[in-house]
Amino acid sequence: MRIMVIAAHPHFDKSRANQALAHELKHHADIYVRDLYEEYSGWEIDVEREQQLLTQYDRVVFQFPFYWYSCPPLLKKWFDDVLTYGWAFGPEGTALMDKEFMIATTTGGTEQSYQSGGDNGFTISELLRPIQRTLTRCNGIYLPAFVSYNVTPGTDAYLAAEAKRYVEHIQTSMRALIH
Ligand SMILES: Cc1cc2nc3c(=O)[nH]c(=O)nc-3n(C[C@H](O)[C@H](O)[C@H](O)COP(=O)(O)O)c2cc1C
Repeated sequence: MRIMVIAAHPHFDKSRANQALAHELKHHADIYVRDLYEEYSGWEIDVEREQQLLTQYDRVVFQFPFYWYSCPPLLKKWFDDVLTYGWAFGPEGTALMDKEFMIATTTGGTEQSYQSGGDNGFTISELLRPIQRTLTRCNGIYLPAFVSYNVTPGTDAYLAAEAKRYVEHIQTSMRALIH
């Protein structure tokens, strides 16, 4: 399975959690990892290149820190620019048919806070629905997300263990993830 990870962090240099995830990915040369904020520091996304890359991979993972219950803005722009009518959706837009998509996110909030009655009131699955629907609207398969909670006080050992869990999750077959 060919996997591409699109990492989007506005301050990757100051990151601990997403850096830990990216560091673990370096041990897996078969996974293509990209840093969106580095590649597009001028915010001019090369749509044709992105669309070509998408067609080359079976599974695309969007990795980001959870910011205001959503993704960082350059990734939102990537969705807006790359998922075009007639290519990703619409009557002729079938380029992403059955491609596997997955979110991988890190949160400041605890797992307990992300439930009804918890401090954040909703689960991560509920809060990620706009992205889920964007990807299914584009004929993609939306797989269960990887979430690393409460990363801010996490020790280096905790983050390293989460990174191992992350790489296992993104390499797991669709069948095993869903059933
Ligand atoms: C602008 C901003 C918005 C944030 N919004 C949320 C949020 O909605 N929910 C949450 O759990 N954490 C939130 N956080 C905390 C980040 O998710 C957390 O700092 C990040 O996952 C840590 O990853 P890193 O070490 O890779 O930066 C926010 C942080 C920033 C800076």
